[in-house]
Amino acid sequence: MNVFFVAVLSSYSVYGILALISDDLEPLTDDMIKAINDLDTIWKAGANFNGHDFKEIKNLIVTSNENYDTFEKKVFDKPKLPENFDARVEWPNCTSIGQIYKQDSCTPSWIYASVGQIADQICINTGVKIDVEKTVKQMMKHYGDCEYNSADFVKAFRYWVNYGVFTAKANGSESCYQTPISVKCLLNYEIENYFQLNPVNPKSYRDKMVAVLNGPITINLDVYSDFFNYKSGIYKRTSRKKIGTHVVKIIGWGVEDDIKYWLVANSWGVQWGDKGFFKIRRNEGEFGNDIRSVALSISSGKMPSSYNRDQLFYLQPY
Ligand SMILES: *[C@@H]1O[C@H](CO)[C@@H](O)[C@H](O)[C@H]1NC(C)=O
Ligand SMILES: *[C@@H]1O[C@H](CO)[C@@H](O)[C@H](O)[C@H]1NC(C)=O
Repeated sequence: MNVFFVAVLSSYSVYGILALISDDLEPLTDDMIKAINDLDTIWKAGANFNGHDFKEIKNLIVTSNENYDTFEKKVFDKPKLPENFDARVEWPNCTSIGQIYKQDSCTPSWIYASVGQIADQICINTGVKIDVEKTVKQMMKHYGDCEYNSADFVKAFRYWVNYGVFTAKANGSESCYQTPISVKCLLNYEIENYFQLNPVNPKSYRDKMVAVLNGPITINLDVYSDFFNYKSGIYKRTSRKKIGTHVVKIIGWGVEDDIKYWLVANSWGVQWGDKGFFKIRRNEGEFGNDIRSVALSISSGKMPSSYNRDQLFYLQPY
């Protein structure tokens, strides 16, 4: 068989337009898993979410439409890029980079992705370590029960950009106060540092690679009905049925069997996917609308005299 013919055939099964599952399949069912695996695609589907059905996990993703145009679009310099890059290996002391968090139905993905990204940047640049879980929990506690879930990722990010973030050490006690509905208790803290955030919007996928060389970036992923069952391999959607959008953190890239991929941390716990991570093809447009991405740098500024609870990022206990 001639080489050209082989190439055409294999690109048909790997990338093929025919490789789609039926729109009628319900995520997380055995039928869904079988339909994906029968396509013999470059990733494998399997059971996730411990037997919970789709109705129970559906609000892990949202349907909002954020406006990333508020961040400066940036075309990066063109250094020679390595074939593989893994931020966990590059900065082994910054454990937040490879930490997988677990959203519950009231914790939106963007809060883990963006608090995580800020923590990564602070650690990479200053060695200061943030307790992401504690920070997120306090932010959620500060607000009404599920209020953060409907909040807008870009709006939250812009708030941190405008006002900066404070790193604080919990001092071991809590203060409680009465709200119209209940009593709320928040950790007491001592402020240690103040940082300003400078976000940009890396344009092409190559710009995103250059950005990741300075630390993980966040990106919006359009979630299709097959994604919930991702288990291993390089994800490429096999479904036409869009469920919503989701924010994830890109921590590196690589090449496997000649297919280029991104290495991405999700926030559905370590039992989901490949120990909580997934790989996705590294092409323009693979996340859905790839312009919805934030790369970040931080700087320390003059400490302002006042702050708000949302600006507090808790330090890891020593
Ligand atoms: C990483 O942490 C270890 C142990 O705390 C320390 O000895 C080492 O200097 C750190 N490395 C960097 C690059 O900060
Ligand atoms: C912790 O901070 C609170 C509020 O600032 C203060 O009232 C309390 O005395 C502090 N506790 C300790 C153990 O330092």
